[in-house]
Amino acid sequence: MWNINLPYILVTAFVLLISCKHAILYEIKEWKACHFASSCRCKNVPGSGNLIADCSGKDLLRIPRLPNNIQELSLRNNNISTIEDGIFKGNSLMTTLDLSLNRISQLRKNSFKGLTNLLSLNLSNNDLKYEHKSFEYSAFHFLENLKKLNLKRNANTSFVPDLWKLRSLELLSIDYVADKIAILDEKFSNLKKLTGIDLSGITGNCKMTILTEKTFLFLPQITHLNLSKCKIQHIFKGTFEILRNIFELDVSLNTCLRFETLENITTDLQHSAVKILKRIESGTVQYLPQSLTSADVGDNIFSFGEYVLELNILPITSLEISDNFSPHDVFDSYVKECPLREETVTINSINNFFFDELPFFEKWKKKSAFFPVPEKLKKVLFKSNYLKAEIPKLGFLANELRYLSLSDNVLHTWTGPVTNIKKLTDLDLSANFCSNISKKFFNPDFTNLRCLLLQNNLLGLVLPTDVDGEIFQNLYNVEYINLSKNKIANIPNLLFKEQQNLERLDLSENMIDDINFKISHMRKLIFLNVRNNRISTLSQYAMNELDSIAKDNKNLTIDLSGNNLVCNCDSLSFVKWIVNTPTNFHRLEKYECKTSKNSISLFRNPREVYETIQKECMSYEGLIIGVTTGILMFIFILCGGIVYRYRWKLRYLYYMVKVKWHDPEHKSNNKDERLYMYDAFVSYANEDDTFVHHKLLNNLERNGGIQLCLHRRNFLPHNVTSPLISHPQFITAGKLLS
Ligand SMILES: *[C@@H]1O[C@H](CO)[C@@H](O)[C@H](O)[C@H]1NC(C)=O
Ligand SMILES: *[C@@H]1O[C@H](CO)[C@@H](O)[C@H](O)[C@H]1NC(C)=O
Ligand SMILES: *[C@@H]1O[C@H](CO)[C@@H](O)[C@H](O)[C@H]1NC(C)=O
Ligand SMILES: *[C@@H]1O[C@H](CO)[C@@H](O)[C@H](O)[C@H]1NC(C)=O
Ligand SMILES: *[C@@H]1O[C@H](CO)[C@@H](O)[C@H](O)[C@H]1NC(C)=O
Ligand SMILES: *[C@@H]1O[C@H](CO)[C@@H](O)[C@H](O)[C@H]1NC(C)=O
Ligand SMILES: *[C@@H]1O[C@H](CO)[C@@H](O)[C@H](O)[C@H]1NC(C)=O
Ligand SMILES: *[C@@H]1O[C@H](CO)[C@@H](O)[C@H](O)[C@H]1NC(C)=O
Repeated sequence: MWNINLPYILVTAFVLLISCKHAILYEIKEWKACHFASSCRCKNVPGSGNLIADCSGKDLLRIPRLPNNIQELSLRNNNISTIEDGIFKGNSLMTTLDLSLNRISQLRKNSFKGLTNLLSLNLSNNDLKYEHKSFEYSAFHFLENLKKLNLKRNANTSFVPDLWKLRSLELLSIDYVADKIAILDEKFSNLKKLTGIDLSGITGNCKMTILTEKTFLFLPQITHLNLSKCKIQHIFKGTFEILRNIFELDVSLNTCLRFETLENITTDLQHSAVKILKRIESGTVQYLPQSLTSADVGDNIFSFGEYVLELNILPITSLEISDNFSPHDVFDSYVKECPLREETVTINSINNFFFDELPFFEKWKKKSAFFPVPEKLKKVLFKSNYLKAEIPKLGFLANELRYLSLSDNVLHTWTGPVTNIKKLTDLDLSANFCSNISKKFFNPDFTNLRCLLLQNNLLGLVLPTDVDGEIFQNLYNVEYINLSKNKIANIPNLLFKEQQNLERLDLSENMIDDINFKISHMRKLIFLNVRNNRISTLSQYAMNELDSIAKDNKNLTIDLSGNNLVCNCDSLSFVKWIVNTPTNFHRLEKYECKTSKNSISLFRNPREVYETIQKECMSYEGLIIGVTTGILMFIFILCGGIVYRYRWKLRYLYYMVKVKWHDPEHKSNNKDERLYMYDAFVSYANEDDTFVHHKLLNNLERNGGIQLCLHRRNFLPHNVTSPLISHPQFITAGKLLS
């Protein structure tokens, strides 16, 4: 009866298949406990039955019994003190063995028996004493295929074990400690494939006080030589002469090695293939006792001159003579160990001036008018050397110089002209305390310059005087100028007049209060940095200049952060410009702006800020208009009231004036000279009759001599006798009335 559940079978098969697949993946990918020693972790080498075993940091006291299929074994960081003879005898598949950080004190002839295919052996950080007791004769007898051997941090002697069997060795890392002349002796002569020797004192113990032409005599094939931090004090001429294939030479961090040594190194390397020469000079103030330092500086510069005459035959392409190795603690401990040499204590201030009065300079000037440069040299770093000098008139011999850094020295005056560096594209003169550039310093030979780093100087003292823009006038192709931190308060309108190709201009950290230099011709300008200056608002000129670029160049960005921007009615047009201009602003949302209320408002939304200010300024205007109108109204009403109150007087006055001006008689006769019969007419009530006719008449007519007209006396018809009265009566009466 075939009553078998087919779906069930299928599902089971599928589940089995999946778990199987998982198991395989698990075995390839994951570490698991090794079957030969449960504390070790093992994993398979994909595609072979071999194992990678990691037994590091397991407090092992001995090397466990190993299966034959181990390919890589790490026993790093254990407590292993002996290697049992023949323990590796089945391990011909092993290629890598790490025994570093143990307490191995002896290697015997059979210690590595069986490791015929070992490629890399690490024995660093053990107790091997580099003596005959530590290394039995031919301890490396079976390691014929070994390529890499690390014996560092074991001993403090110049003993080198017997290496003659290591005929495949390519890289040897080893300690070497000698107070006198260092010699890598004939034990090395058999190592025909050895190309790299790492003696660096950073990772091991190294002291090579004196190097001579004997030091590397048996190693002419070396290409990589690392002598960093090896406490070298003297390098005699000829030391490196034999190393014709040297490609990389590191003599950095040898603080006792003074600058003059470069002469001996470079003369030797003339005919070699060296491409990278690392020489980190540290004769600077912070590392050496004060008296020694200044002397050392003088001395450095002096000897710089001496060897420099032969510089041009060197085939190097990169030369670093800088003190830019920052971790100070690397030095501090052993700088003090440098023996003080008598002659370095005397300070010769003349030597501190690079080219002035220097005997060498005289010699050079007689010899040739041009400064020698290695023909293939492309990059020169001469940083942080405390070189105090003026840059004088200087011509270079034919060269390929592209990159020159003289930053962080004290090149305080750039006089020049510096000529024949037509290929130079990058020039770094930053951090030099320079306050004086002559107008001919950047002469037409700088035409290829693309990148000019001038930050951290004092050019604010000289640039404002260059009203005609002569300093930079030959730098047509420059694309980037950094003038940050130069104490610049003002930039003349024409300073950058020839920089049509400028893409980035960094003027941050200065004291500029407006952009009043011409920029509209820099059609490629991408970034103008005026961060941390004293700009409160931009002038209409600046806004127009920026807009004229920005309307074609959408990439134009300006950084105005860190300025004391002002957002009040006076800067309304500036704020409006920020809203409307096609110019981009770098991190606009971070800008701060002082408003009239002295509060800080952020430009998170410029349009909103603009509208707020606009409203504020509008209401201010309204207030002014309102108050003025009020005052005017008040004055008007006041005047109206006064006029109303005195309307009759005014009307009277008006008529008086009108009559005065319109009566032709009055006009022509200001002084009335006509004769009148009476001086006054007295109008009185009948009751006062007695007073008028007796008292007044007596007093005025008799005593005062004034003729009065009284109606009772003079208006009688019989009295009409006077010539005037003979005319009709009403005339006289009319006259008196008026
Ligand atoms: C080595 O052994 C000593 C004592 O024998 C112990 O103190 C130390 O921790 C061990 N070191 C390692 C790395 O296992
Ligand atoms: C040798 O061992 C030391 C210490 O464990 C380690 O720093 C170094 O990188 C190793 N060198 C090689 C070549 O494996
Ligand atoms: C070798 O010298 C170094 C530094 O001077 C020191 O740290 C180390 O312990 C010395 N090693 C031996 C084996 O003397
Ligand atoms: C020389 O060795 C030190 C220490 O291992 C290392 O830091 C340095 O980069 C090496 N130099 C070169 C040129 O490889
Ligand atoms: C350079 O070599 C010359 C001649 O071999 C030697 O007298 C001089 O001391 C060397 N200079 C240095 C700094 O080692
Ligand atoms: C700048 O240097 C030139 C040449 O050394 C000198 O003549 C001039 O006086 C200097 N100017 C200032 C302001 O120091
Ligand atoms: C310009 O120099 C300043 C000061 O050293 C520096 O902070 C800045 O990053 C430089 N600018 C650029 C764009 O590299
Ligand atoms: C603007 O920048 C973009 C991308 O960085 C670039 O492709 C484009 O050519 C630039 N435009 C101008 C006008 O420089």
